[in-house]
Amino acid sequence: MNIDAIKTAYRRYARIYDVVFGPIFHPGRKVIIGALDCHAGDNILEVGVGTGLSLPLYPDDVKVTGIDVSAEMLTKAHERVEQEGLAHVDAVLEMDAEQMRFSDNSFDKVVAMYVVSVVPDPVQLVKEMARVCKPDGDIFIANHFRSNNPLLKLAENFLSPLSKLAGFRPDFDLDDFLQKTQLEVTEMHSVNLFGYWKVLRCRNIG
Ligand SMILES: C[S@@+](CC[C@H](N)C(=O)[O-])C[C@H]1O[C@@H](n2cnc3c(N)ncnc32)[C@H](O)[C@@H]1O
Repeated sequence: MNIDAIKTAYRRYARIYDVVFGPIFHPGRKVIIGALDCHAGDNILEVGVGTGLSLPLYPDDVKVTGIDVSAEMLTKAHERVEQEGLAHVDAVLEMDAEQMRFSDNSFDKVVAMYVVSVVPDPVQLVKEMARVCKPDGDIFIANHFRSNNPLLKLAENFLSPLSKLAGFRPDFDLDDFLQKTQLEVTEMHSVNLFGYWKVLRCRNIG
């Protein structure tokens, strides 16, 4: 997986993304935003915001910034912000989440929904999320992780060589991810179809 392959994959997905991945991922988006425990004035960053399907779910009294590397996905997000009059959305920007232009400690909460198994370097992504998040802030991640079910594991291994084309890694391992990122998970929920995806709340230990 490299950034060009990701941009190519999401250039292809942009037009159909909301129909194909909208409803199936939506319960997880709602769980994350509920778990954010937002307070008025919170400054929230969502990395890999895509077409902005989550943006209408945030409360009106927070400030949300969304970033993504795909210009085509972001065009859809801009349209949504305008059409739905989402005044709590501060900015939607084209930016690589592995090398963000934000200063240290800029955000109260940093969120990645269905992104960690998509980026070229998930460890660098988490490092950047921790850097821009305030020291006592929270990092929230929703993602599919490799299944423990032997049949699903087989299917994930089979699909693994197609990662570049598909734009995500089907065999992304949770234990390996946590060990490499040193994330301190304080809550974990299973979400979406068959609980096949997980929502992680992590304390930013900077
Ligand atoms: C599966 S989509 C998820 C979109 C959205 N979060 C959702 O809930 O539907 C993954 C998104 O991550 C973006 N992405 C991949 N690598 C990225 C990076 N390094 N920096 C920022 N965005 C990235 C892709 O362009 C794509 O829009």
